[in-house]
Amino acid sequence: MIKIAPSILAADFSCLRSQMVELQEAKADWIHFDVMDGHFVDNLTFGPKILSDIRKISDLFMDVHIMVSEPQKVFHWFKEADLITFHYEALIDNQQRIALIKEIQKSGIKAGISIKPNTPVEVLDSFLLDVDLILIMSVEPGFGGQSFITNSLDKIKYLKTQKDSKGYHYLIEVDGGINDETSAKAIKAGADVLVAGSYIFRGSITDNIAKLKRQEV
Ligand code: DX5
Ligand code: ZN
Repeated sequence: MIKIAPSILAADFSCLRSQMVELQEAKADWIHFDVMDGHFVDNLTFGPKILSDIRKISDLFMDVHIMVSEPQKVFHWFKEADLITFHYEALIDNQQRIALIKEIQKSGIKAGISIKPNTPVEVLDSFLLDVDLILIMSVEPGFGGQSFITNSLDKIKYLKTQKDSKGYHYLIEVDGGINDETSAKAIKAGADVLVAGSYIFRGSITDNIAKLKRQEV
């Protein structure tokens, strides 16, 4: 069953409590929480305090996506996360990357790794055995409301084939430009989790989540 992870980057923070209640009632599965440091990406978003406050009004699974230059320092601040995903491009070698995956898991949090659109999927081969989730960016990270980059579908298909043929346990998540058309393609390619911001928070949250869930045939 496909999981829907609304990205609260697109939420209206002046009425966050009612929107969080509506997400829960609409059977969203996760909450996608975009952390940006104004350095790894040209935008600044949320710190740990906002995550703690959201925890008070939602018991959904907290999917924390950190777009930061120093993930090995920053991840410690998000103790209330259920999953922390850092970027492959933020670190310089695979030793550092595997050590961070293990450190996140040792702290009792699931670990994910993400690649930008221009990074080839094969660079992730060394992590497939250990990682809990792989996040394919289908837009250049930094902003919501961008269009879906189609080459992401080939990356999803590659990860799905690896997973099925070698019995890996990771989930495949896709993030950026998800709508009723691109969601159907991503699900067909093998995605397990769909992140959606502008599509869900524009208009009726309840109807939009239902439309995404109906894409799974
Ligand atoms: C972008 C973020 C995404 C973004 C998705 O860097 O990682 O999670 O909020 O927003 P939409 O669905 O509007 O592309
Ligand atoms: Zn994200």
